[in-house]
Amino acid sequence: MFTPNPIGYVRSPYTDTKAIPKGLGVRHEVEGILDILTEFEIGLTDVEGFSHLFVIWAFDRSEGYDLFGPSPADNRPHGVFATRSPRRPNPIALTVVELLGRDGPKLRVRGLDMLDGTPILDIKPYMSSIPAEQLRRGWLAEAEARKQADSK
Ligand SMILES: C[S@@+](CC[C@H](N)C(=O)[O-])C[C@H]1O[C@@H](n2cnc3c(N)ncnc32)[C@H](O)[C@@H]1O
Repeated sequence: MFTPNPIGYVRSPYTDTKAIPKGLGVRHEVEGILDILTEFEIGLTDVEGFSHLFVIWAFDRSEGYDLFGPSPADNRPHGVFATRSPRRPNPIALTVVELLGRDGPKLRVRGLDMLDGTPILDIKPYMSSIPAEQLRRGWLAEAEARKQADSK
C-alpha cells in the first residue's frame, strides 16, 4: 500500500458541514478553486479540454466508520458501500465537478460538496461510457419514488 500525499487543497466557501446541502435530489452548484501545489502543476497540462473532472479527496475531518447506518437521503439504513457517507473504513471521497477555467495551478470549478481546506488526492478527466438506460440507482431510486408518493 501507499501513503497518500495531497496534490493540493480545495478552496471552498463551506467551513461547516451543516452548510453543505444533503439529501435526496440535492444539486451542488457552489463554485471554488482546486488549488494544486506548484510541484504538480505540469500534471495539469491538457486538463482544460475537459468539461468535467473527477476529484478524489480525503474526508480529513471524519473519524471512524459505520458499516451500516442511516443516510440523509433515506429514512432506511444502508451498507456504507451503498452510500456516499463520510464515515467509511478508508475515508476517500469522489466528486464530479465542472471545470470553469484554469489559472496556472488553480482550477476554477463548480459543484463542490467539500469543506474549505480539504486535501485533494487526485484529479482525473470525467468520462462515462455506460448508457443512461443501463444505469440502476438501487435504493436511491426507491427512496425517491417513496418521497414522490408521500408528497401526493
Ligand atoms: C455525502 S459526502 C459525499 C462526498 C463525495 N461527493 C463522495 O461521494 O464521496 C459529502 C459530505 O461530506 C462531509 N464533508 C465535506 N468535506 C469534508 C471533509 N473535509 N472531512 C469530512 N467530512 C467532509 C459533509 O458533511 C458533506 O455534506
